[in-house]
Amino acid sequence: MRVLGIETSCDECGVGIVDDGGRVLANVIASQVELHARYGGVVPEVASRQHLRTILPAVEEALAQADTTWREIDLIAVTAGPGLVGSLLVGVNAAKALAYARDLPLLGVHHLEGHVYANWLDQALGGEPPPRFPCVALIVSGGHTDLVLMEDHGRYRRLGRTRDDAAGEAFDKVARLLGLGFPGGPAIQRVAEGVQQPAVSLPRAWLQGTADFSFSGLKTAVLRLLEAPDAPPAEQVAAAFQESVVDVLVSKTLVAAEAHGAAEVLLAGGVAANSLLRRVMRERSPVPVRVPPPKLCTDNGTMIAGAAFYRWQAGDRSDLSLDAQPGMKFAS
Ligand code: KG4
Ligand code: ZN
Repeated sequence: MRVLGIETSCDECGVGIVDDGGRVLANVIASQVELHARYGGVVPEVASRQHLRTILPAVEEALAQADTTWREIDLIAVTAGPGLVGSLLVGVNAAKALAYARDLPLLGVHHLEGHVYANWLDQALGGEPPPRFPCVALIVSGGHTDLVLMEDHGRYRRLGRTRDDAAGEAFDKVARLLGLGFPGGPAIQRVAEGVQQPAVSLPRAWLQGTADFSFSGLKTAVLRLLEAPDAPPAEQVAAAFQESVVDVLVSKTLVAAEAHGAAEVLLAGGVAANSLLRRVMRERSPVPVRVPPPKLCTDNGTMIAGAAFYRWQAGDRSDLSLDAQPGMKFAS
């Protein structure tokens, strides 16, 4: 089954084509990073207007990259939510128009389920068999930090979530405090790479007895540190911040994995592109750790096409009444 997936929930306009939930034929991303960088963050109106310009050329480019025609596409999938409403609307309406014009079925997908299913794409598997259930998935993006028990395809139970900022949001805010620009995650990773062992230590919010997270106190601690007369250099603060976030994410994920007898740990979302998180999770986990290649961790259309295949197998269908759902719920 050949699925064309569209992702426009935030600032990346992604179109992917995937066979049977795994074989990636095309992954086109029209990035808006440069457009938003001058504002220091994503400007919703600018994002949706840019999606309007790039969505159809991205679809055409994906078809060309996959060397496929509309006749060979079996399903159009699109991120229905959550996300910025103006951005979601462009993707959802493009998907609906294409499904109508090409007489193809349509399926709305949850953005976070897409991130999780990036772990089933061939480029993530690297020749290994697909993940075994039950697994514990750490979904860390700009808008979410969720720890989820996945018992089977499409069966999720949320174990914990952030109580304030998402991990990616914390990276972006701290990068701004450090004057490192947008997006913050890659910028912090880059400057922290030169630091062997940070000379300062930043606090960790453990929220003992829960699988929840909190990152707003850490952000405040960074601010206090920078306001001090003897403030350490930016790269020291960046490295200490990254170390603190990674320590908490890894420790709490592994406690949950053990408590629920997880066969594997899955990493998903933009922050899963972080090299320290990938390395420390692998070093400390007693069970196998799956993590997609960095370009499939950040927003893309292939993960939506991948997740849609499993949703379709389970009998899910959408129709032309599909609407953008900015607050769409996932696991509960
Ligand atoms: O999943 P994603 O592309 O979009 C959302 O769904 O939000 O995640 C974007 C987030 C941003 O906050 C960005 O700073 C963060 O992922 N990110 C990283 C890295 N690459 C992207 N955070 C830490 N290290 C990275 N290498
Ligand atoms: Zn995302």
